[in-house]
Amino acid sequence: MSRYLFDNTAVQTAGRFSVLEARYDTASRAALERTGVGPGWRCLEVGGGGGSLGNWLGERVGPDGEVAVTDIDPARAASRPTAANVRVLRHDITHDPLPGDGFDLVHARLVLLHLPERLRVLELLAGALRPGGWLVLEDFDCGWIPVLAAPDDNAVLLFERLHASLMALLERAGAEPRWGRQVVGAMLRAGLDEVTATTYAETWQGGGEGIGLHRVNTVQVADGLAELGVGSDEVAAFLALLDDPRFVVSSYPLISALGRRPGEESPR
Ligand SMILES: C[S@@+](CC[C@H](N)C(=O)[O-])C[C@H]1O[C@@H](n2cnc3c(N)ncnc32)[C@H](O)[C@@H]1O
Repeated sequence: MSRYLFDNTAVQTAGRFSVLEARYDTASRAALERTGVGPGWRCLEVGGGGGSLGNWLGERVGPDGEVAVTDIDPARAASRPTAANVRVLRHDITHDPLPGDGFDLVHARLVLLHLPERLRVLELLAGALRPGGWLVLEDFDCGWIPVLAAPDDNAVLLFERLHASLMALLERAGAEPRWGRQVVGAMLRAGLDEVTATTYAETWQGGGEGIGLHRVNTVQVADGLAELGVGSDEVAAFLALLDDPRFVVSSYPLISALGRRPGEESPR
């Protein structure tokens, strides 16, 4: 049973999906393009969230292709206008039967990091590919977000302390915050071929769009932070810091890993 920390019913979800789409979709589309995805492909988009990448895949594969977008809570993706070749499904990847098999492409961004069963799910997704089909897994390495500029040393300590507490909450929910740096190894061990990865990171300045991800995440789990002993005054100081343009932090690096199911070459 999923214990996803940032469940999609919270009001902060719209802000989360908006930052992910705005700051990471370009990198994700570039990774997906490296598979050659095009007309007629059958794709599975797991934990599709706001649905932007599922829709983009729908455009790429055209009317002869199809995309199944799944999520434990697909309301956001379902509320978006989608093309006829994009199906949005309520589906838990940890225990529901897969909505098909022999996919040309399976993609999941920022999903396996949250799942205690991530290695089993990776095997499941690899097995859902046709021979020669592509698995694209994208995840953060939350263990590498250096502060690049700050008004003073206390600001750095405050950021690191709050962020460490957020990571502790994620781990308590079964997530692996450093999963991004483990994906390539896990894909190789799962027997995938042609495994490669690219990493995308950028600067996030106080008051800017990207750093808003820390804001929505922190506000959504404020009760959990209090349970860990983080005071409301400290949370307030942290949120103020996120609005301070003198504060700059590296974004979460998104590791986009590709691998192929061994077998016949793609005819496309
Ligand atoms: C951090 S969001 C990422 C959303 C989207 N993939 C993106 O990158 O913009 C994680 C998504 O995974 C979904 N999710 C979490 N656990 C899941 C599960 N067991 N099966 C399917 N989806 C799941 C959540 O509901 C949420 O929409």
